[in-house]
Amino acid sequence: MNNQKIGTKCVQAGYTPGNGEPRQIPIIQSTTFKYDTSEDMGKLFDLEASGYFYTRLQNPTNDHVAAKIAALEGGSAAMLTSSGQAANFFALFNICECGSHIVASSSIYGGTFNLIAVTMAKMGIEVTFVSPDADEDELNASFKENTRAMFGETIANPALTVLDIEKFAKVAHAHGVPLIVDNTFPTPVNCRPIEWGADIVTHSTTKYMDGHGAAVGGAIVDAGKFDWMAHADKFPGLTQPDESYHGIVYAEKFGKEGAFITKCTSQLMRDFGCIQSPQNAFILNLGLESLHVRMPKHVENGLAVAKFLEGHKKVVKVNYPGLESDKYHELAKKYLPNGGCGVVSFELEGGRAAAESFMKKLKIAAIETHVADARTCCLNPATSTHRQLTDEQLEAAGIPAGLIRISCGLEDSADLIADIAQALE
Ligand SMILES: Cc1ncc(COP(=O)(O)O)c(C=O)c1O
Repeated sequence: MNNQKIGTKCVQAGYTPGNGEPRQIPIIQSTTFKYDTSEDMGKLFDLEASGYFYTRLQNPTNDHVAAKIAALEGGSAAMLTSSGQAANFFALFNICECGSHIVASSSIYGGTFNLIAVTMAKMGIEVTFVSPDADEDELNASFKENTRAMFGETIANPALTVLDIEKFAKVAHAHGVPLIVDNTFPTPVNCRPIEWGADIVTHSTTKYMDGHGAAVGGAIVDAGKFDWMAHADKFPGLTQPDESYHGIVYAEKFGKEGAFITKCTSQLMRDFGCIQSPQNAFILNLGLESLHVRMPKHVENGLAVAKFLEGHKKVVKVNYPGLESDKYHELAKKYLPNGGCGVVSFELEGGRAAAESFMKKLKIAAIETHVADARTCCLNPATSTHRQLTDEQLEAAGIPAGLIRISCGLEDSADLIADIAQALE
């Protein structure tokens, strides 16, 4: 399967039915699983055998879909979570604890920023945010003795900055910690961070992977390359006995390829229960089957809209890494040679009022707190997600009041441009 092209993996990976078995991944809509003897079940509780006993931890439908995502990203193991938020929390909390420190790009999704800066801070985990443009010296200077992970987004939501994955991975590895990359926006069709040195990849599958605005979900993929034992003192959760599983040492028993996901499932899923429903995993798989067909169209529409906006007199600035004029175009050429995604952000002359009136006039693009699905949608942070901030506060946060984020769907680009043109006029 590994040598197959990405499109074949989108359609086929993760599930191979046997003779006479269902062609489609079965939805195992069962909370529990039956055993003939307590000994049989006991082996699962001791992690001596693989299998299922309770869907709060694992479910076969989810595991087929997770295996497909692992194959797409080029990882050794993966798991589904109930949301992208849960995926990022689990990925970090699997190796951090009270007293740990994280280095994170400041250019990340607001929900993830809040998770790390506010909620994880309450758990005693501190963070240093760094500019995605920081040079190696600046990145090195942000590390501390208790740093346990580095985090960034391949293409940041909504800033659309492009992460220099190789640079971040090099610095993280020099400090003996893994690089975690949220690859939600490009998806593995357009970028596979593991090929550039990332150790853990996360997703909000709610976005392009599902692609139809139908199911909230998340995923975590382990590259299977990080040597936990070589940095055993930093990662006791993986390298010291887990008394809740009779003294198992994850890194010894499951090796580099399996330790991270096994620990995440058997500890964090067990205790927090952020499992994706098998029904949602099935819907997600339908989206994955066409991901390689949809992404090029999202990119085509994003680029066409970005080019149109760039040439319009009422538009002050356009952010889209595919544009030659974009600050991140060189990085995009390296990491996203086939394009990034369909999300474009732009700033309108006239600020908040102009943005509000423009969006009201759109007929195809709908106003939504969402991105990355088949239908074009848009949002003005100043009048929605960030409406409590003044214009001055918005400016300080790098979000001009007239900024609009538009997520180009799968419609005909000529219609999208005509819609935007009439709303601008
Ligand atoms: C890049 C990125 N990561 C994570 C998330 C959180 O995902 P979810 O909404 O599925 O919890 C989002 C949501 O917009 C996102 O854009």
